[in-house]
Amino acid sequence: MRILYLGDIVGENTIHILKENLEAIKKEYHIHMVLCNAENVTKGKGLSYSHYKELKALGIAGMTMGNHTFSKSEIKDYISSATIARPANLSTTYGKDVLYIHYNQEVIALVNLLGRVYMNTPLDCPFKVFEELLPKIQADKIIVDFHGEATSEKKAFFYCFAGKVDAILGTHTHIKTDDREVYENTCYISDLGMCGPKYSVLGSDVAGIIERFKTGIYEPVKVSEGMEYELNGVILDLGKVNKIEDFKKNIKAPLL
Ligand SMILES: [Fe+2]
Ligand SMILES: [Fe+2]
Repeated sequence: MRILYLGDIVGENTIHILKENLEAIKKEYHIHMVLCNAENVTKGKGLSYSHYKELKALGIAGMTMGNHTFSKSEIKDYISSATIARPANLSTTYGKDVLYIHYNQEVIALVNLLGRVYMNTPLDCPFKVFEELLPKIQADKIIVDFHGEATSEKKAFFYCFAGKVDAILGTHTHIKTDDREVYENTCYISDLGMCGPKYSVLGSDVAGIIERFKTGIYEPVKVSEGMEYELNGVILDLGKVNKIEDFKKNIKAPLL
């Protein structure tokens, strides 16, 4: 089974880019299922219900989130019935620890965890939480989105659970790493990168972010709007022998 996993989708314009291009991408790369990280869709933070529905309409089978999961509070109204795995080490009853996705005769379990290094969120230990969660998961394939800042934490998590899951994919930094590997049949990458405007700082407006750094004044910064978008992620080829391939596309935006 070939799964396209897209890194953090930033801004609603990126949904339009996906609307225009995803079907062709699926055909070109022989993709059976699309998954994504959706924590930055709505104005760069969180996921509104209408944007969730738009991603679903594109055929995206499952979504993971991150530190911005609850940035749009309306998600509390729909997350429990949505095809979303929320970070399992957040202490909340909203949403699911494990999202089960059925494809043909197989069941894929999708899990999302938040790293603790350089994250300003009080969190349960992702290692301990997953150690307890793993024996309860009943699925043919298990995919983990480890949403964290530090490559060290992600890599340690990978070696801790290699051989026990099918893929451990890092998200959150929005900058793709070039360290794809498979060890004990577990696919790994430290960060998938983002799907969003190319001329941006991690998806945000360039001038606004420069101003933040120059002045130290932390004013809200909007999502950048460029004429070129980048789609980043990986393709997981899951079978008896699991494989991980790079996925990257630069796309000129139509007039939006
Ligand atoms: Fe993100
Ligand atoms: Fe994040």
